[in-house]
Amino acid sequence: MIIKRSKKSQNRPDDTSLKEHKRDPVDIQKKEKDYFINDIRPGSFKEYVGQKDLKKILDIVIKAAKLRNEPIDHLLLYGPPGLGKTTISLILASEMGVDCKITSAPSLEKPKDIIGLLVKLKPGDVLFLDEIHRLNHLAEELLYLAMEDYRLDITIGKGQSTKISSISLPKFTLIGATTKIGNVSFPLRDRFGLVQRLKYYEYHELILIIKRSAIVLQTSITHEGAIEIAIRSRGTPRIANRLLRRIRDYIQVKRMNLITKDLAIEALDLYKIDSKGLNWTDHLILETMIFQFNGGPVGLEAIAASTGEDIKTIEQVYEPYLLQIGYVNRTPRGRVVTEAAYKYIETIKKG
Ligand SMILES: Nc1ncnc2c1ncn2[C@@H]1O[C@H](COP(=O)(O)OP(=O)(O)O)[C@@H](O)[C@H]1O
Ligand SMILES: [Mg+2]
Repeated sequence: MIIKRSKKSQNRPDDTSLKEHKRDPVDIQKKEKDYFINDIRPGSFKEYVGQKDLKKILDIVIKAAKLRNEPIDHLLLYGPPGLGKTTISLILASEMGVDCKITSAPSLEKPKDIIGLLVKLKPGDVLFLDEIHRLNHLAEELLYLAMEDYRLDITIGKGQSTKISSISLPKFTLIGATTKIGNVSFPLRDRFGLVQRLKYYEYHELILIIKRSAIVLQTSITHEGAIEIAIRSRGTPRIANRLLRRIRDYIQVKRMNLITKDLAIEALDLYKIDSKGLNWTDHLILETMIFQFNGGPVGLEAIAASTGEDIKTIEQVYEPYLLQIGYVNRTPRGRVVTEAAYKYIETIKKG
């Protein structure tokens, strides 16, 4: 596989400069455009590994929209962080030949924030709204009409002199993303033509992603080296890429030029990522549940208090993967650890 490095990608802003621009959606759009040609982020569906069913559906959606010469329907993507929601949106916009404006719900505090964004859209543009479950009530109300009728009703003045002024908007596509679909209100969810979940990736998919990223990062890696990273990536491309970068640091400092299985293991041991991809905090959570709460059932609050971790972090970062690999179960009375988790903790205690 040969991946051409775009010249423009050398001007790509680094992650910090991207963060600095979080508050200005228009600027983000510009930055994201540059970021898009950042080669690590796949730029087309061909390079976007996995999520086969979703890709098939989106392929139909894109083709149909093009035939009708219309923008694609509003799309709501959900699933754990780092699985490729933002990436899909950028690819969709690029396939449709339109711009993608990226913003996130917490940055739309006042009605004027969302109005400002909507009125600047060009026909067909994609508006990507991250963390859509955190949208406030006023913004949500404005969005309903914008999504359904491509219109904004704005109230001007107060008391008896109140007037409603209607602004029409170009037809656009809203792509909402969330890690917490249960927290998206029903009326909002209803206004999306498509609601799709992103799945954790299989090992063979992660291996492909790791090998591709290694080419982009101009690092060599053996197949066995890629396997070691894949099994520790918690089914998540973002984690796979992060581990790859850390191992690249490690071998560079050691003056080596090939990531082998042994070097990958050495580096990952140093960063305290075990063979399941679990780290120190995952261990602490499981051990707390086992030794302090007899394996559960135990509530998240109690786990948080005993481990000193924040409830949200446990719920959004640690728990989903522990549930996914069957180490923790949810019951109506709280979380319980499974037999598999007991065995696992026993082996790491011995090791
Ligand atoms: N299907 C995929 N194929 C290859 N790389 C991917 C894929 N999905 C995600 N990535 C990589 O993982 C990183 C995180 O993806 P992102 O779209 O930001 O996730 P999310 O928005 O769901 O948190 C991206 O920078 C990209 O490099
Ligand atoms: Mg994202």
